[in-house]
Amino acid sequence: MKILGIETSCDETAVAVVDDMAEGADRLKANIVLSQIEDHRKFGGVVPEIAARAHLRHLPGLLDDALAEAGITLDDIDAVAATGGPGLIGGVMVGVTMAKGLALAADKPFIAVNHLEAHALTARLTDDAAFPYLLLLVSGGHCQLVLVEALGRYTLYGTTHDDAVGEAFDKTAKLLGLGYPGGPALERMAEKGAPGRFALPAPMVGRPDLDFSFSGLKTAVRTQVQKLGDAITDQDRADLAHAFQTAAVTSLADRTKRALDRALREAPDLTALVVAGGVAANKTVRDGLSAIAEKQGVAFLAPPMALCTDNAAMVAWAGLEKARRGDRDALDFKPRPRWPLDSLTQRHPNKGQGEN
Ligand code: KG4
Ligand code: ZN
Repeated sequence: MKILGIETSCDETAVAVVDDMAEGADRLKANIVLSQIEDHRKFGGVVPEIAARAHLRHLPGLLDDALAEAGITLDDIDAVAATGGPGLIGGVMVGVTMAKGLALAADKPFIAVNHLEAHALTARLTDDAAFPYLLLLVSGGHCQLVLVEALGRYTLYGTTHDDAVGEAFDKTAKLLGLGYPGGPALERMAEKGAPGRFALPAPMVGRPDLDFSFSGLKTAVRTQVQKLGDAITDQDRADLAHAFQTAAVTSLADRTKRALDRALREAPDLTALVVAGGVAANKTVRDGLSAIAEKQGVAFLAPPMALCTDNAAMVAWAGLEKARRGDRDALDFKPRPRWPLDSLTQRHPNKGQGEN
């Protein structure tokens, strides 16, 4: 099966082709990502209207490029998948409308993919991860722990009360004047920081639930920046970046360890801890998580960086898994700005009302 995937839910315009005749990452026949970072840099963040227009401008050309790279035409495709949400609605509309048009023109099924499900299934494309596994999804818009039991069976263990961790990296980087995009800039700055100079509280550590919260940590950085005032030096910034990253990773690790305990109780055949989303590109985050997985005797899987951040390969792959199951969506599918991952879980026939 060959699936065309389109991703336009944030600030990456991406088109990919996957083919399940190959193995592992060789299944990727084309994977094109156009980052709009330059379009948004002067605003210090993603401007939805600019993003939607940029998707519209670039998508047709990228589509031609992806088909050429895969060495196929639209006729060779078995289905067209696009991110149907959650995300910035203008962008999602552009991708969904394009996918519907292509599906209609080529008389192929259209499949609307949940962006979070696409992140959740990426480790199956890259590493053939077997169900069930525990997923930590850490991106600019999401921070969730999810038990992935099967395709379409997701149990939300915990989520953030306020900022997503990537958002906290971005906002903290802005506070420290590190530019945009903030996450990678903050990681680079933290490398030059002295450990232990600022002790920032690691949020939520020790709490019995599996939720996250990062806005207090960001505020703690702001308080320090205000104390330092105009005299703030680059070394101060580096030390603060280090302290922020340490506290954020401590929090992620604590929550994930607790979630692994629960996952191992509920799914003793758990195969792995999987991390996905843009923040998984951060080395300290990866190292912290892999240490936890090792301690618990569980495999740790992190997709390659390019497949952790937003891309269309994951959308095409999720589309492929859904197509195999016989899924297709009607051409009147409405893009969804909000679309929680656990809402995809169908009620198990053996379970009673209210359970899942
Ligand atoms: O998954 P993604 O590409 O987009 C969505 O939010 O869906 O994730 C982007 C987020 C941004 O907040 C970015 O700052 C963060 O991932 N990020 C990082 C790093 N690289 C990207 N955060 C910390 N360290 C990094 N190296
Ligand atoms: Zn994403």
